[in-house]
Amino acid sequence: MKVLVIGSGGRENALVWKIQQNKNISEIYVAPGNGGTALEFTNINIQPDEVVKLVGFAKENKIDLVIPGPEMPLTLGIVDAMHEAGVPCFGPSAWCSKLEGSKAFAKSIMDKAGVPTAKYGVFSDIEKAKSFIKDIGLPVVIKADGLAAGKGVVIAYTEEEAYKSLQECLVEKSFGDAGASVVLEEFLEGEEVSLMAFCSGEVALPLPSAQDHKAAFDEDKGPNTGGMGAYSPTVLLPDNDLESTTDCVIRPILKVLAEKGHPYTGVLYAGIMVTKTGPKVLEYNVRFGDPECQVLLMRLDTDLISIIKACMDGTLKDMSLQISSDASLAVVIVAEGYPGSYHKNMVIKGLNNIENLEGIKVFHSGTRQDSGVTYASGGRILSVAAKDKSLLEVKESVYKALGHLDIDKTRYRRDIGIKGIKG
Ligand code: AMP
Ligand code: GLY
Repeated sequence: MKVLVIGSGGRENALVWKIQQNKNISEIYVAPGNGGTALEFTNINIQPDEVVKLVGFAKENKIDLVIPGPEMPLTLGIVDAMHEAGVPCFGPSAWCSKLEGSKAFAKSIMDKAGVPTAKYGVFSDIEKAKSFIKDIGLPVVIKADGLAAGKGVVIAYTEEEAYKSLQECLVEKSFGDAGASVVLEEFLEGEEVSLMAFCSGEVALPLPSAQDHKAAFDEDKGPNTGGMGAYSPTVLLPDNDLESTTDCVIRPILKVLAEKGHPYTGVLYAGIMVTKTGPKVLEYNVRFGDPECQVLLMRLDTDLISIIKACMDGTLKDMSLQISSDASLAVVIVAEGYPGSYHKNMVIKGLNNIENLEGIKVFHSGTRQDSGVTYASGGRILSVAAKDKSLLEVKESVYKALGHLDIDKTRYRRDIGIKGIKG
């Protein structure tokens, strides 16, 4: 069986690591991949948004299964295009991917499904938006409707800040079409947790909960990043509550989509704020989260290809997921300066030492290979992940393993997982 994975991050490195454990896999291609996937698999030089080229490659190379990692190809309709070309592709259609691609669409589906979420309004007129802010009060959350590369959300604490971002988004069009309208939301206080489920029509099998760490620095300080580390499980959403939470925030969405004639296939990710009055959904993503995917796949004992096939052929309801009772944790090493402009081309030393440590996995993201040397090429460079009996033990082994790496001009957070350990 030949598989094509689309993407270049730690998530995709974790996906191919897990997929290759299936005995029927003969070849794994990654488009475009990274310096880690290059060592074991075949990287191909096509970007995730080059849908036509990806379909051409899949047909020409008789790919049996395509797995898109990031949201961009999904919102561009790669699943529809692959299916039209007769290539099996795991993920939601372009229509269903609007759950991530348009925050206004996601809110309207949440309303129909009765999913708990922040109060909101959708505006393209700045004066109407301003008067809504007067009604809803401060702080207010301002979100560009479309995909804005993780930069489209502002939490405004004063009217000045709020009006400035409305002006930038709606009038100066700083996010282009993605900001043609904004979703304004009530500010929710609490802790964030990620819930991901394999979905097929109205059937959903949840993975355990995981927590991302979006802020750049310890104690959740500094600007938001693509994710500095993750761990699973969490006390915010214990295993005992997984089914009831899936009933509350995932299955009602699947039902509404199916009723609209667009059954959902793929992974659905609910970003949840656990508030004093219960869980409320902040956003949906139509794919695995990163770095959460890395820690979740380390705990998943069931073969991933079998789950994906069951999602695609309608037999997911007959399956159950085997999850390791161990905890898992991943710490991301980033280049100094990230998420602003950052250092590049540092030599990554010590990888061999770390890869020989038992239970430790390195998942690459912003790396490249050149003449047998691995170089840093992105803001998030790689993560060190592990699985162990308890969160405390796994945290200790990951941080110890990090000591074996030697990369100039890099840093990582020292407190990944601490919230879970404190309970
Ligand atoms: P989103 O892309 O919608 O998940 O927003 C990005 C981040 O902004 C979230 O991970 C939260 O940290 C924060 N955020 C989004 N919506 C809200 C809200 N209504 N209240 C508080 N924080 C929010
Ligand atoms: N971990 C957040 C995301 O993947 O969007």
